[in-house]
Amino acid sequence: MLVDPFGRHVTYLRVSVTDRCDLRCTYCMAENMTFLPKRELLTLEELDRLCTAFVERGVKKLRITGGEPLVRRDVMKLMRALGRHLDSGALEELTLTTNANQLARHAAELAGIGVKRINVSLDSLDPDRFRAITRTGDLSKVLGGIKAAKDAGIAVKLNAVALSGLNEDELPRMVEWAHGEGHDITFIETMPMGEIEEDRTMHYLPLSVLRERFEERWTLEDIPLNTGGPARYVRSVETGGRIGFITPLTHNFCEGCNRVRLTCTGMLYMCLGQEDSADLRKVVRDSESNEAIHAALDEAIARKPKGHDFVIDRGAPRAAVPRHMSVT
Ligand code: GTP
Ligand code: 5AD
Ligand code: SF4
Repeated sequence: MLVDPFGRHVTYLRVSVTDRCDLRCTYCMAENMTFLPKRELLTLEELDRLCTAFVERGVKKLRITGGEPLVRRDVMKLMRALGRHLDSGALEELTLTTNANQLARHAAELAGIGVKRINVSLDSLDPDRFRAITRTGDLSKVLGGIKAAKDAGIAVKLNAVALSGLNEDELPRMVEWAHGEGHDITFIETMPMGEIEEDRTMHYLPLSVLRERFEERWTLEDIPLNTGGPARYVRSVETGGRIGFITPLTHNFCEGCNRVRLTCTGMLYMCLGQEDSADLRKVVRDSESNEAIHAALDEAIARKPKGHDFVIDRGAPRAAVPRHMSVT
């Protein structure tokens, strides 16, 4: 077991397999990002060794992310390898967070590996607006990816960052569309991570405001759904579907935190909003033995902080942490 100094059990590992992405969402990335040289990245074998060490220590949920995980050429090989932990029963969930741009051609194989749910980032259902937010995206490709996942029997949860003045007016319509298609949908408050061109505070929308707007339209019932992630869910009685709220700014959820994050270069971050990390790449490269990895995990988890200190207001437009979400 991995238990931190606050008694929280670490059972969820998020693994970024690349910092690259085939989109350039304005709130996430700068237009001209400098990406890491490929030699800096963990190899597939190193990723597998580290993930396996976490599974041996009680991690039950592995989420592969990026950047965009499906732009890494060998990512399906990693998924196939990690699938063995589902088969053995050691792992309860193996999943992805993706922009779905390239999901159509991988959906059936992912289902075969045992992926049951997938999270897809989608911030608009209007093709022009989708292009404006992602700078390069083609909405029809993403919708094709979502459909392919559904057809393969994979449940899709949509993630939309709530952006004041950009997509706020269409969020109710997105809920209706998602529920009509049988998908859960979760809204996220924009977090001050990594420098981008614009001032994030301009587009920050507190989800308490969004929830009030939804309540004028639908009856929302709190439900006890716990996916192991940070979202709090309600059910809309009229549409029959679930809506999640991820509120790092307005309602900190750190007291129940069960996760740590491994970057594509092997740095283990104990918190999304803090800079402290442990260099697991060095450990995995310096040592043949897994004992050294386990010792490094113990040492890192003992340093897990109580929580983040994100704030976002007009007086604090700078990023709270220099790294972009795509790195962790
Ligand atoms: P589920 O398994 O569906 O619960 O997924 P999840 O919410 O854990 O994962 P997903 O990749 O869909 O993340 C949704 C959003 O929540 C992203 O913007 C994440 O960065 C954010 N998020 C996930 N974990 C944390 C966390 O520990 N702290 C903060 N502040 N945000 C987080
Ligand atoms: N704040 C909030 N969410 C972000 N994402 C990327 N950058 C940010 C940010 N600064 C979202 C993506 C995706 C999820 C993994 O993180 O839209 O849904
Ligand atoms: Fe890519 Fe996701 Fe960042 Fe958009 S939010 S640029 S899809 S990593």
